[in-house]
Amino acid sequence: MHRPLAASVLVPALLVALLPGAASALAGTAPAGKFTATAKVSSIDEAAAQGAQIFANDTFGSKQTWVPPNAFSSHVMTCAACHTDGGKTEGTTPAGAHLPSLIGAAAKYPKFKAKKQAVYTLERQIVHCVRAGIMGKPPGYNSPEMIDLVAYLTQLSKGATMGQQFK
Ligand code: HEC
Repeated sequence: MHRPLAASVLVPALLVALLPGAASALAGTAPAGKFTATAKVSSIDEAAAQGAQIFANDTFGSKQTWVPPNAFSSHVMTCAACHTDGGKTEGTTPAGAHLPSLIGAAAKYPKFKAKKQAVYTLERQIVHCVRAGIMGKPPGYNSPEMIDLVAYLTQLSKGATMGQQFK
């Protein structure tokens, strides 16, 4: 499992190093395992598109794998392992727990978590999911990866009413 993955990451990395412009050509088909976001973007939609790639492909350094239902081979651990179809439909954790879709989720933040007696920002929830869900190293709060994930999740909340969590 680890050897083919390493090769599939290495070949595009070499291409990117050798061919100027290959990075953007590859952005749409980033190999599973790693996605490097760029800090400079030309629009908010571009950031959200990068966020969608990170959501689907980035393992955040985790070596965890999972086997989707009805699949024969194991997949690397990403946000998409639990949040199905880019988070646009109901999700299922590998352990079988059902998750609501992430459409509209960003609009519910900041959110009070009764169990923690604390208010979570969307970023803190993402950090929690990377640590506890993916078992990877979370992106920094101000990193391009975090910004792109927030842009993507906020795009999924387009039109949702904010502030509903307040009395
Ligand atoms: C192993 C399964 C798993 C993975 C992988 C996972 N999550 Fe989650 N996610 C959950 C669970 C379970 C919840 C709800 C309960 C909780 O907060 O733990 C959740 C909740 C969320 C929420 C809050 C939804 C709401 O309505 O408040 C967001 C946003 C989210 N995840 C984003 C992500 C992102 C982004 C990634 C990838 C970096 C990710 N998740 C990876 C299991 C996962």
